Amino acid sequence: VTENSAVDLAVRRRRALGPTYHAFYREPVHLVRGEGVWLFDAQGSRFLDGYNNVASVGHCHPHVVAALARQASLLNTHTRYLSDLIVEYAERLLATCPPALGHALFTCTGSEANDLAIRIARHATAGTGIIVTRTAYHGATVATAAISPSAGGAAALTRENRLIAAPDTYRRGGADALEFVDNLRTALNEMSRDGIKPAALMLDTAFSSDGIFFPPAAVLREAAAVIRAAGGLFIADEVQAGFGRLGSGMWGFQRAGLEPDIVTLGKPMGDGHPIGGAMVKPELVAKFSTETGYFNTFGGNPVSAAVGMAVLDVIERENLIDNARIVGTHLRDGLGALAQRHPLIGDVRGEGLCIGVELVRPDAAYSAATSAAAWVVNGLRERHILISSSGPGGNVLKIRPPLPFSRGNADQLLEALDDTLSDLALYVET
Ligand SMILES: Cc1ncc(COP(=O)(O)O)c(C=O)c1O
Repeated sequence: VTENSAVDLAVRRRRALGPTYHAFYREPVHLVRGEGVWLFDAQGSRFLDGYNNVASVGHCHPHVVAALARQASLLNTHTRYLSDLIVEYAERLLATCPPALGHALFTCTGSEANDLAIRIARHATAGTGIIVTRTAYHGATVATAAISPSAGGAAALTRENRLIAAPDTYRRGGADALEFVDNLRTALNEMSRDGIKPAALMLDTAFSSDGIFFPPAAVLREAAAVIRAAGGLFIADEVQAGFGRLGSGMWGFQRAGLEPDIVTLGKPMGDGHPIGGAMVKPELVAKFSTETGYFNTFGGNPVSAAVGMAVLDVIERENLIDNARIVGTHLRDGLGALAQRHPLIGDVRGEGLCIGVELVRPDAAYSAATSAAAWVVNGLRERHILISSSGPGGNVLKIRPPLPFSRGNADQLLEALDDTLSDLALYVET
């Protein structure tokens, strides 16, 4: 396989798939195999995965692959038939949650999970308005795209939905985090003025596309109380933070002591297999279920359930939540040390293995170092380390590796980032 064949593939891809599919990196990576925290390209080169939360327990984990193959060779149907697997899986998931979350519903993607959560919230509250953060991403269906300004811009928003500033803990001395509840109240007042009844506040508990923030727990708890007082529900989108990534329990909402009305799940749930879901308070779906019912042909199929359970097994057996906490702390310490030497780093923040490194310009406003972030992401890719960036300015390095990431892996990433930032400093000065 030659470099030319990668270019040929990119050209064919563009011709066959059209312009909507964007590849990462100036020089896209053509991956053919994954194992643990490693990805291999068509030339056999190895890349350290510092980015993928989908293969959360490691790429192609043998226990997950074996569970998938075993069940796929035995039976795959859907939830119209009785199956032990989906019931056992639902029971195991629910056991990780506050008892008020009594039912689990299954989908194939995070978008579908959020779409279903919106339907349930609108049905249960008789409201329509959904409030999300300014650079949120919640999915690709019609309803979720309308609350995903990070993909479609504010224009994607429909009339009933509202945006509020993310609880930014860095800029303006963290004022957006402290003003979060006031901003929510303002949005609710505006909705009321426009004759719109709120259905829900939906938050990604890691604020991933907003730039990764972990505001004070009290702020989020108060926000949940305020939306409830206004008649809406609090929906925790755990598509990013869930399944142990934050290194303190299974879910992001637990970190903040929240008790959501609905929790939505996706990406890391199946270690690469498409599975998603929603855990809900039973009273919210009692009428919904009899009036409209819910069936998803592939959601909750036995193969997906077997995969989901295997993922839970691995999280437990390999102590991945502890690992996320220990290695995440080590990585953040190392990034903090880099920040002392590289003024481009304005802020290092995160929980467990969900880390944001905000790159800023040397001006008084610490404005977003957008092109520097793109340069760093590509510089790391040249050093065979894969990460990406997020936030409204695209200037927050997003480090979110598979959970088995080791201290050694973290050190390799730190060293490569140090070299890349040093190169950039030289490049900018000359
Ligand atoms: C927070 C969040 N919610 C929902 C989704 C949508 O999930 P999916 O792409 O599986 O539909 C994503 C995907 O990036 C996400 O990050």
